[in-house]
Amino acid sequence: MMKYVKLLSVLSLFVFLNAACYYDVEEELYPVNTCDTTSVTYAVTVQNIIQENCYVCHSAASQQGGVILEGYTALKGYVDSGQLLGAIKQNSGFSPMPQGQPKLDDCTILKVETWITGGALDN
Ligand code: HEC
Repeated sequence: MMKYVKLLSVLSLFVFLNAACYYDVEEELYPVNTCDTTSVTYAVTVQNIIQENCYVCHSAASQQGGVILEGYTALKGYVDSGQLLGAIKQNSGFSPMPQGQPKLDDCTILKVETWITGGALDN
């Protein structure tokens, strides 16, 4: 019986240490709490991202390539066609955007993606 208890405690210690180790590594690879997507909306989040990174070429006035991303309705068309996400994630088959500039950072892309997954509401 004692032997069994000892074996159990050694085993649970091992599991504990292992879990702790695993957690450390995971935290390093995927930093937690660095990208807050809890309150993403069109008006507060997405519109600002598009305005900052895309209006220079895709406002109603500039409309490069005939693409207008200014305003909810215009943007929603590119959401529904999959072109908005394809372009900013730079997936093959889409023109990588923003053109001539570095890819948007992961958190910014995740915010846009979260908004789209939530139904791309005019909120
Ligand atoms: C420096 C100018 C410039 C910037 C900045 C820019 N674009 Fe573009 N974009 C273009 C041009 C020119 C085209 C048309 C030619 C092409 O598709 O490459 C285009 C095309 C597109 C298209 C249609 C792509 C397709 O596959 O048909 C989408 C969607 C788009 N842009 C989204 C964006 C988004 C989102 C941003 C901001 C993150 C952005 N663009 C920033 C110049 C720009």
